[in-house]
Amino acid sequence: MTKSDIYESVFERNREWVRECTTKDPGFFEKLSTEQHPDFLFIGCSDSRVPANTIMGVDPGEVFVHRNVANLVVNTDFNGLSTLHYAVDHLKVDHIVVCGHYGCGGIKAALQPRDLGILNGWLREIRDVYRLHQEELDAIEDDQERENRLVQLNVREQCQNVIKTAVVQRNYLERGAPRVYGWAYDLSTGLLEDLEVPFEADLDKVRETYRLTR
Ligand code: CO
Repeated sequence: MTKSDIYESVFERNREWVRECTTKDPGFFEKLSTEQHPDFLFIGCSDSRVPANTIMGVDPGEVFVHRNVANLVVNTDFNGLSTLHYAVDHLKVDHIVVCGHYGCGGIKAALQPRDLGILNGWLREIRDVYRLHQEELDAIEDDQERENRLVQLNVREQCQNVIKTAVVQRNYLERGAPRVYGWAYDLSTGLLEDLEVPFEADLDKVRETYRLTR
């Protein structure tokens, strides 16, 4: 297949997909065009191998998605914060998932002592996670195990960053939702793992310092 064939084939596959959807449900696109009621906000990595809808096995309309390098929730990132705000305050999602993945290029890059240009500022968020958990991470002898543990710890920290926002604190206190979950995706098996982040305990702990609502 030439490069232009690959490009053109996208439109053929798109039409094929439309045919499949409308065969199963003739009103599929008509319904979706007027509204969305996703239960989930998925915050994941931009990695092409971690497509939210596919790995969750859900259809269009069922998950609101934000993806960036290494699934970070950054206080100065208006893109991420706007997505979070819209999902929680307007779409009223009940579940916010931060989904990391083993083998993450962003995590690997953050572990390398190199100047990576414009990525430095972004990756510093991950290096900050490393510093917060340095004792635990440095005690792990195997490089791969240490990297995998950083993937998990990064997810936990990003969950806490979600909890630090006023929109999440206010909504949870008012309507008992959203809850925040941390997942890790394994590229080699396709399986999702719930890291069982203790949401209530983390909420209480975070609010000792980052309390933005009464
Ligand atoms: Co990644």
